[in-house]
Amino acid sequence: MQTVYRGVRFLKNPFDIGLYLQLLSRLKPKTVIEICCRFGGSALWFADMMRCHGIEHPHVIALDIAPEVDFADPRIMVIQGDAAALGNSLPDTLLATLPRPWLVVEDSSHFYHHSMATLEFFHNRLDVGDYIVVEDGIVEHLSGENYRQYQNGPNRAVADFLAKEGTHYSVDTELCDFYGTNATYNPNGWLRRK
Ligand SMILES: C[S@@+](CC[C@H](N)C(=O)[O-])C[C@H]1O[C@@H](n2cnc3c(N)ncnc32)[C@H](O)[C@@H]1O
Repeated sequence: MQTVYRGVRFLKNPFDIGLYLQLLSRLKPKTVIEICCRFGGSALWFADMMRCHGIEHPHVIALDIAPEVDFADPRIMVIQGDAAALGNSLPDTLLATLPRPWLVVEDSSHFYHHSMATLEFFHNRLDVGDYIVVEDGIVEHLSGENYRQYQNGPNRAVADFLAKEGTHYSVDTELCDFYGTNATYNPNGWLRRK
């Protein structure tokens, strides 16, 4: 959690940085929508890595209820918004301007209702081949009283969502298990829209 990228805090697990690189290499997303961005380090990293993967004009949407982004980058649109009400800050008129394929990253509060709200919001907005990654299901396995407050939110949301809409998604087990079985902070959380 002390990682910085180009001097900006960047809150990703090192295995997941490697896994996102595999996905970027394969998917070459033209848009990354990050729910949520905090300091913007990951948004900056995504924008740079997309450029490295040949995306000439990367689009990164970096949303947060309280963004703490103190730099400006023409590739990154910082939006203040609530994961529980994404339609208010991500209108379909805006989404329609974002080139495909999309990579959506759900990295908000780790509470069930926010993970589920994000999955449900994007469900009918994803195209075949787009990805949505639900981060930090690992909180279930982390020791420390602090993590119990999440009540296994991300993993439960993924499981409940897939129980309902699973025919429309595949869990990308190649990514989940790339470094060992679910050796990721996002166990079974790398979802591809079918
Ligand atoms: C783990 S941080 C995001 C880290 C960032 N994605 C990264 O990798 O560097 C979680 C963020 O979720 C935001 N957040 C929490 N609840 C939220 C909500 N209801 N709506 C939007 N953002 C929320 C917090 O403000 C915090 O910045």
